[in-house]
Amino acid sequence: MARVIALADLAATEALGARIAGQLRAGDVVALTGGLGAGKTTLARAIIRALGHTGEVPSPSFAIIEIYDGLRVPLIHADFYRLARAEEAEELGLDDYRAGGAMIAEWPDHAGGFAHEAGCLSIALETDAELDGNGRKAIVEAGADWLGRWECL
Ligand SMILES: Nc1ncnc2c1ncn2[C@@H]1O[C@H](COP(=O)(O)OP(=O)(O)O)[C@@H](O)[C@H]1O
Ligand SMILES: [Mg+2]
Repeated sequence: MARVIALADLAATEALGARIAGQLRAGDVVALTGGLGAGKTTLARAIIRALGHTGEVPSPSFAIIEIYDGLRVPLIHADFYRLARAEEAEELGLDDYRAGGAMIAEWPDHAGGFAHEAGCLSIALETDAELDGNGRKAIVEAGADWLGRWECL
């Protein structure tokens, strides 16, 4: 089952990020798909800031994984775009990075995908032709662990 959430502007994306942060717990994956400029990193930043991070939130497009400790939920923010093969995610120690915390993943399919995990919240971001250039549409699907939580998003 999928839900579509209209994001009329940047403020709406940030508000969605805050709602996701409010529901997030260890073991979750927030898998963000959508083309370049769809708003994946923008939504990730909103989640990370709503969890209490006050500093910079660099895009992980170069480092692949950025680590955020000391938040309500320990978190990694990953961007798998540069992976040539899904196996490289394991080779760089992804399981260890994920242990005990949550993950926000951009380009999750480049790491083999996470939608089979009960803790996966999949969000596809699309530009919305019916809105102006700042309009987006979030198509949300959730694993079993999100039952009772994703309804609140
Ligand atoms: N409603 C919106 N949601 C997210 N980003 C938006 C929105 N409206 C405009 N933008 C802009 O679109 C760009 C999205 O870039 P970014 O988040 O880096 O995309 P991605 O990580 O998907 O490549 C940013 O410049 C952001 O300010
Ligand atoms: Mg990005």
